[in-house]
Amino acid sequence: MESIQGKEALFIDTAELQARVRGYQQILIDLGTGDGRYVKHVARTRPDCFAIGLDACRENLREASRRTPRNALYLIANVLTLPAELQALATEVTINFPWGSLLEGLLAGDAALLAGLAALARPGADLAVRLNGGALAEAGWSLPGGAMQIQRVLSANGFNLDQSFELNADVLRQLPTTWAKRLAFGRDPRTWLLQGKRWGRPIGRSHSKALGLSAKCVLMPQGAPILGGADAQPTSEGVIEGALS
Ligand SMILES: C[S@@+](CC[C@H](N)C(=O)[O-])C[C@H]1O[C@@H](n2cnc3c(N)ncnc32)[C@H](O)[C@@H]1O
Repeated sequence: MESIQGKEALFIDTAELQARVRGYQQILIDLGTGDGRYVKHVARTRPDCFAIGLDACRENLREASRRTPRNALYLIANVLTLPAELQALATEVTINFPWGSLLEGLLAGDAALLAGLAALARPGADLAVRLNGGALAEAGWSLPGGAMQIQRVLSANGFNLDQSFELNADVLRQLPTTWAKRLAFGRDPRTWLLQGKRWGRPIGRSHSKALGLSAKCVLMPQGAPILGGADAQPTSEGVIEGALS
């Protein structure tokens, strides 16, 4: 797969990737990373985490990737055909303010995107998807309607997203992504957070070996969650501002 460092493209295989992430208990993959600011922030503030940013657009990543922290990596790839090298790597996945084919794939339940997403997240991995009203409106959805649709799609494809709520502008302003800043100070700051986990729970080494799994986990489907409303719990990140109709 192709990684980027400034103007240079570097090709790295599974062995090289494994060598880079060795020793890190936490591995974040940020899909549609844009200019990579979120990944850089995570790498700098959480030295025990290896952060990988992936985007189809190399121009946006040139600047951020010029001085990449040791525990960060930027990849050029289309999320609709995610590199096989990323399989069962992530303990955390973030998708911040998707647009274009990434957003459309989530809304439409694109099979290749969802298979790739489920494959790269280890069982029990955290997933956070932040959506913005403007991008969803362009795709023909209201903010709560689009959030509910994406929650449904992800819940049917390996994730249990039990937290769903609108973010307020204060929270948005503090998020270390370029798009969050643009939205927070722009005309339409409406954003929504979906949060949860990849199905699965840890099991013993012998079981995982017998099942042919590299991670010490087994997949455990759980019931589809109820979205938002009075059942949603605020987290450290956000505030529930409204129920869904
Ligand atoms: C609105 S920007 C958000 C960037 C960043 N996450 C942030 O918060 O600043 C959406 C990003 O999704 C990327 N994207 C859209 N479709 C994609 C695809 N199929 N594969 C990879 N990246 C994609 C775009 O290139 C763009 O950088």
